[in-house]
Amino acid sequence: MKSKRRAQAVPEMTAWIDARLSRRAFLKSGAAAGLAGIIADDPWGTSHAAVRESPLLGFEGIETSTADTIRLPRGYRWRRLISWGDPLFPDAPGFDPSGDTPAADQARQFGDNNDGMEFFPLSSDRALLVVNNEYTNYRHLTRHRGNDLSANDVLKSQYAIGISVVELKRDRNGEWFTVLDSAYNRRIHALTPTGLTGPVSGHELVKTDADPLGTDVLGTLLNCASGSTPWGTYLSCEENFNECFGSNREVTPPERFERYGIRSNSKLYRWHLYDERFDIAVHPNEPNRFGWVVEVDPLDPGFKPKKRTALGRFAHENAALHVSRDGRVVVYMGDDARGEHLYRFVSHDRLDPDDMDANRDLLDEGTLSVARFDIQSERLEGTGRWIDLVFGKNNLNPQSDFADQAEVLVYARYAATQLGATTLDRPEWVAVHPEGREAYCALTGKTDRVAMGLRVGGPNPRARNLYGQILRWKPTGGDHTGSTFSWDLYVVAGNPQVYEGIDGGSDNLDRGNMFNGPDGLKFDSAGRLWIQTDGDYSNKGAYRGMGNNQMLCGDPGSGEIRRFMTGPTGCEISGLAFSPDSTAMFVGIQHPGEAPDYPSHFPDGGDATPRSSVVVITRHDGGIIGA
Ligand code: FEO
Ligand code: CA
Ligand code: CA
Ligand code: CA
Repeated sequence: MKSKRRAQAVPEMTAWIDARLSRRAFLKSGAAAGLAGIIADDPWGTSHAAVRESPLLGFEGIETSTADTIRLPRGYRWRRLISWGDPLFPDAPGFDPSGDTPAADQARQFGDNNDGMEFFPLSSDRALLVVNNEYTNYRHLTRHRGNDLSANDVLKSQYAIGISVVELKRDRNGEWFTVLDSAYNRRIHALTPTGLTGPVSGHELVKTDADPLGTDVLGTLLNCASGSTPWGTYLSCEENFNECFGSNREVTPPERFERYGIRSNSKLYRWHLYDERFDIAVHPNEPNRFGWVVEVDPLDPGFKPKKRTALGRFAHENAALHVSRDGRVVVYMGDDARGEHLYRFVSHDRLDPDDMDANRDLLDEGTLSVARFDIQSERLEGTGRWIDLVFGKNNLNPQSDFADQAEVLVYARYAATQLGATTLDRPEWVAVHPEGREAYCALTGKTDRVAMGLRVGGPNPRARNLYGQILRWKPTGGDHTGSTFSWDLYVVAGNPQVYEGIDGGSDNLDRGNMFNGPDGLKFDSAGRLWIQTDGDYSNKGAYRGMGNNQMLCGDPGSGEIRRFMTGPTGCEISGLAFSPDSTAMFVGIQHPGEAPDYPSHFPDGGDATPRSSVVVITRHDGGIIGA
């Protein structure tokens, strides 16, 4: 009965929003200049009805592409920096495509499926690049494509994920290269000793036979995107860790495993077949030790990574850090699953700008909150508030099955829902404008709200979201530690070649810059917003003409967006870092040839095995990227 009512309501609302969008398109055309006052209520002076040519974007937007290579605007070039399987040490073996390699080789090579990354300068011409290695694929990792799994294969896959640290050097021609004989180069993987710090450290929920104190974990898993801190550390976000767990035994997992996707029949990695630690029937607390933000000091090669549990446990996408005016550290975080939430952590203590060492444990104490958007279903803008996930507040207490703060953090998703947090169409990366004005989150889409029984409206205006959108919010009074904000949608992605109305996208989208599946988001120091996609690359049907995944660049002020880069076949573009002088951009090409129907041989060409890679983009004239 309930779902029938919803199904009827949805088309009505979609029609209303379509009407609103086409009204905006009409206004944009200039035919209704006299009506401009109607839409001049845009609170930030950035109405898409007034998309202007951007003073920030200095390159010519490029066409979509289905070629198995990278394309860039005129005046730019790219070079491969490092690929999966490349040696990280002088005595490490090179990439062997046979799949018949000992696991130990992978532990000394660049990891697989690079994702988020950050650049740490050592001097003007030396730096460390720290890169997440999100996952691996038995189809390329093993000779038998995963059909005849061995203990060596499981160990190899455990070594293929995690984090890679590699030193870079810039030569006299201004080109960046990797340095293998560096004392900083390091691999962190599923077996690296890692600490559990903050409120969950030592809690019953994280104690295991191997770690009766609940303070020391082996490894970090499924490291998606990243963040960095003013005190020089790297933040790595554990996302789909649930896929590493399974069991062949009869098991009834704890009830709250369900929303975390932890189940006995997961088929992806099957580590439990050779590593009992990942068998949830035997070690039911082991999964609670993953799904955290992990901090690493790349300047200390012996540093034991720390899982900062105060930031909550969910499918972490990235960690976007901002220092508030009063010095408290704000970390925005998306939980990338359909209908999950957007979170914010505010540190209890303030950043000490004169003593960076004094800041090292700032992320261990603070307040985690979750976003609730006030939804007036007919509007693509509104207000919202942060609600604290604090034991003893907001009915988070034993009556609602939370024994203490640690339990609130371990099962943050359940606590957030209890507080009325807004469900979102897969919140991926968050980026904060360099001047702190507003923050952006890519909602990647691929969500059918009707099928899931989720409310349509507000930041999620589509019943069936094929294309995604970018949500932004501006804190009241410019204070990111405050409890209220206003929000709107910076861009609604769509395909104007196929649809009119909302599925044709917002006014700052046209055939020249259309895209789907926004995912990676990062600002450069000049305030250009770089948008990376992990969308449908079929180039068919609803995605006709959209080509391979791509990277675009937006001006938050004018609303304009231009296409900067197209990637090879079947890849997603994910991961972005800049040299401090902005003359080099490091970009991640993840899983080229992901689907067998969209084969790739990137970057080696011929009939080579496709390899995820970091590429470096520079200008022929050595100028600033994007300007
Ligand atoms: Fe690892 Fe949500 O992307
Ligand atoms: Ca992502
Ligand atoms: Ca994605
Ligand atoms: Ca992907």
